[in-house]
Amino acid sequence: MSKEELIKGLNEDLAAEWGTVIRYTYQAGKSFGILGTELREMFEQEVQDELGHATFLTDVIVDLGGEPTTTPKEFPKHDDIKAMLALDLEMEEQDVENYTKHAKMAEKLGEVELKIKLEEMAADEAGHAREIRRILKGL
Ligand SMILES: [Fe+2]
Ligand SMILES: [Fe+2]
Repeated sequence: MSKEELIKGLNEDLAAEWGTVIRYTYQAGKSFGILGTELREMFEQEVQDELGHATFLTDVIVDLGGEPTTTPKEFPKHDDIKAMLALDLEMEEQDVENYTKHAKMAEKLGEVELKIKLEEMAADEAGHAREIRRILKGL
């Protein structure tokens, strides 16, 4: 396992974060009615977290000597709120898994601060997943 592999993994995380920023902004715009109002609030809050994650990853990739991606991960567009949220839940759970995996890689490379920050980001995404599950339960 090398620094290059870690940079590659972090760039995949970064592409996912850019994708999430766009996905939540798009979905907020396509959320209507009373439920839509609650969803818009959640998406707006979570976009701030994802932007923070993207900023951190960009800085770390540069610091490790890599080139940070500016290309977002693509996502399917849904009009149906339930389908939107099911996709979001899947993506958040995937992010938890990836950050946990990359935190272990960082630890092996002796990148202590990075390991802790990636675990914190995994925790942020787990919180987002819980919030989405809570809304999905009521649908
Ligand atoms: Fe994130
Ligand atoms: Fe998230």
